[in-house]
Amino acid sequence: MAPNILVFDSGLGGLTVYREIVKARPDANYVYVADDAFFPYGAHEQDALIARVVPLMGELIAAHKPDLIVIACNTASVQALAALRERYKVPFVGTVPAIKPACAASRTKRISVLGTKATVAREYTRVLIREFAGDCAVDLIGSGQLAGIAEAELAGKPAPDADIAAELAPCFVDKDSRRTDAIVLACTHYPLLLRRLIALAPWPVDWIDPAPAIARRVVDLLGRAESSRGTTEAVFTSGRLPLPHVARELTR
Ligand code: DGL
Repeated sequence: MAPNILVFDSGLGGLTVYREIVKARPDANYVYVADDAFFPYGAHEQDALIARVVPLMGELIAAHKPDLIVIACNTASVQALAALRERYKVPFVGTVPAIKPACAASRTKRISVLGTKATVAREYTRVLIREFAGDCAVDLIGSGQLAGIAEAELAGKPAPDADIAAELAPCFVDKDSRRTDAIVLACTHYPLLLRRLIALAPWPVDWIDPAPAIARRVVDLLGRAESSRGTTEAVFTSGRLPLPHVARELTR
């Protein structure tokens, strides 16, 4: 039997993860949940986020009976994943800043982690750096605007270049003769802006998107695809309907 997979984010950032998982398991049945009534997650305190996400997940599990839940959101994963795993038996796959592969790929041994202000502030992210950065210098850059800019981009209201460049500038560090050569996209919304990020970068870098690794983790847990083709349902907690091109992507 094809598995039911629930993909969860605060908004449409989780699409960047969903796309990779669907490629790996096209036979699965998906529910894509955007908790857009509480967007942006990056603006909430940890206690408030846990108080929101844990009971909401209980309702979603009861309604959709998933075999696996992918938290396609760094901000929720670094703050609420432990509480979710403690409360529910369903297996969870989280999305956390890809510091290990970025440091391994870096030749200059200086990388930046670009995430929401909450993600870069939390101890979880600091522990990843202590465990995996080794001799690599890591600059943590919290963005207050980029997730909203990505939502607007998808809604056909692109932000001016200057707004994106201002959020991006602190990621490019040239210090102690080490220049940033990799940027971890530590918010699932940011790959939605990748083309614009590349165009506005002061110099070329590797952009590290964790989505393919998350899809591989899903296959590790659930096995390879069967030959059938699955379905996708979209749930927006605000009750609004997704824009037609988003709805098309989420209708299979
Ligand atoms: N997509 C979310 C993440 O990966 C964050 C966006 C938000 O602030 O809600 O961190």
